[in-house]
Amino acid sequence: MSGKLPKKGLSKEEILRKLKEYSADDADPHGGRLFTIAFEPGVEELRDLAFEVYKMFAYKNMLDFTEFPSAIRMEKDIIDIAKELTHGDEDVVGTFTFGGTESVFLAVKAARDRFLINKGQITIPEIVMPITAHPCYEKAAEYMGLKVKRVRVDEKTLTADPNAINEAITENTAMIVGSTPNWPFGTVDSIKDLAEIAVDKNIWLHVDACVGGFVLPFMKRLGEPIPDFDFRIEGVTSISLDPHKYAYAPVGASVVLFRKKFYKMFSQYANIRWPGYPIVNPAVLSSRSEALLATAWAVLHFLGEEGYLELAKRLMSARDKIVKGLKELGYKIMGSPTVIAAFTSEELNLFRLSDEMAKRGWLFLPQKGISNMNIPPSVHLTINPIHDRVADLMLKDLKEATEVVKKIPPSEAEGLLDMFGTIFSFLVPEEMDLATLKEIFSRLEQAVAVYGERILKTLGLEKGFPKEMALIYELLAALPPQIAELLTNYIVIEMFSRGL
Ligand SMILES: Cc1ncc(COP(=O)(O)O)c(C=O)c1O
Repeated sequence: MSGKLPKKGLSKEEILRKLKEYSADDADPHGGRLFTIAFEPGVEELRDLAFEVYKMFAYKNMLDFTEFPSAIRMEKDIIDIAKELTHGDEDVVGTFTFGGTESVFLAVKAARDRFLINKGQITIPEIVMPITAHPCYEKAAEYMGLKVKRVRVDEKTLTADPNAINEAITENTAMIVGSTPNWPFGTVDSIKDLAEIAVDKNIWLHVDACVGGFVLPFMKRLGEPIPDFDFRIEGVTSISLDPHKYAYAPVGASVVLFRKKFYKMFSQYANIRWPGYPIVNPAVLSSRSEALLATAWAVLHFLGEEGYLELAKRLMSARDKIVKGLKELGYKIMGSPTVIAAFTSEELNLFRLSDEMAKRGWLFLPQKGISNMNIPPSVHLTINPIHDRVADLMLKDLKEATEVVKKIPPSEAEGLLDMFGTIFSFLVPEEMDLATLKEIFSRLEQAVAVYGERILKTLGLEKGFPKEMALIYELLAALPPQIAELLTNYIVIEMFSRGL
């Protein structure tokens, strides 16, 4: 052996020291400085409880719920809470999964199978959705042999345009998607309008409430003008909602609900064809730790209705302060923000602004926009209850960062674009048959061998992620998506195989 696996096991102290070293430059998910990829209520006891509960269940496996019946009890309670929040009747059933993507996979599989049973196997089923829907639908489509059509949204409200959805539907459409809210801008699609189309054309309507499912109902009770988006609307077939987002459970917790048991049948997987144990998997993975189910159960029951209402109040207060501050600094708010607010600027380079804020310890999420749909580059802010404490401080730093960025000359990306253009432009034609794909593959291998190192060096990526990411964002915004996808795939493979 090469010695990567230690010959003699390390002590607990050595292990903890090493892992502390590994995580020394990680962002702190609890500190209130992240405005993306962290959902932080700022309730200390909640974390301690989750750690305690995690210990109780870490080695119990949800694969065999006959061996660990607590899995069924906890899952039923969580599904019942989700049903109550979404006004599901007694026919509604659901599945606990490890994330929004997995919940969406199950909904897509069910919609696809229902479609194929009705229409036969001769067509490729399609998903029609607004440009703002999360990429996990394309991921599910790629894994399961469907196609996705993304359509324009209303340019002003940044919500689904029912006419555009309607126009894109064909006899091959198996699913329509609406988001409540979408990730880029936090705007809520009109599910009522989409449901009318779905009922009229007998198409599966999935409501992506991964972000909003556990928070919008509480905000609505506090007076926010949020339109209905749940099972009260005829035509809503399935809904996904994530405890690991705005229910503040540790990462690895989502729920998908189906209007009928019969629909859930299509989402499960059973196999009794081998000499071993019978497989019946409600979710995508087979072996799964019970710990994340248990921590989600614990967090939901610890906070309760009153806790979620209080946290929703703090979140709204943080959002209102931040939106007001952004407007005062001259930024334009995109659509009507809910738990996410996005802003744009015609004058400033927002990628640079995000870098300037990162230097001050605040993590923003720059977004490239879609120029041919008139959606400009923007910055996304996931707003959390903890931000109520730090909003003023953040806005003070933002004012300073804004002044700095005003003085920075525009992009340096043009020169680099030429280089990437020549490397990749010959690689990706619009349509691919098997022969072209093979050809592309071998060209890609050659291009990576010749230019790979140079690409990493130019972008400052040869030793991990650079402090300033603006150039990378600019490049990804400017390249055609297929080329940008190849490039990011390459970079991530390199990153994980080299280590940091
Ligand atoms: C609207 C929406 N749907 C689905 C997902 C996928 O969720 P996950 O990252 O938990 O797989 C996300 C993630 O941000 C999202 O914002």
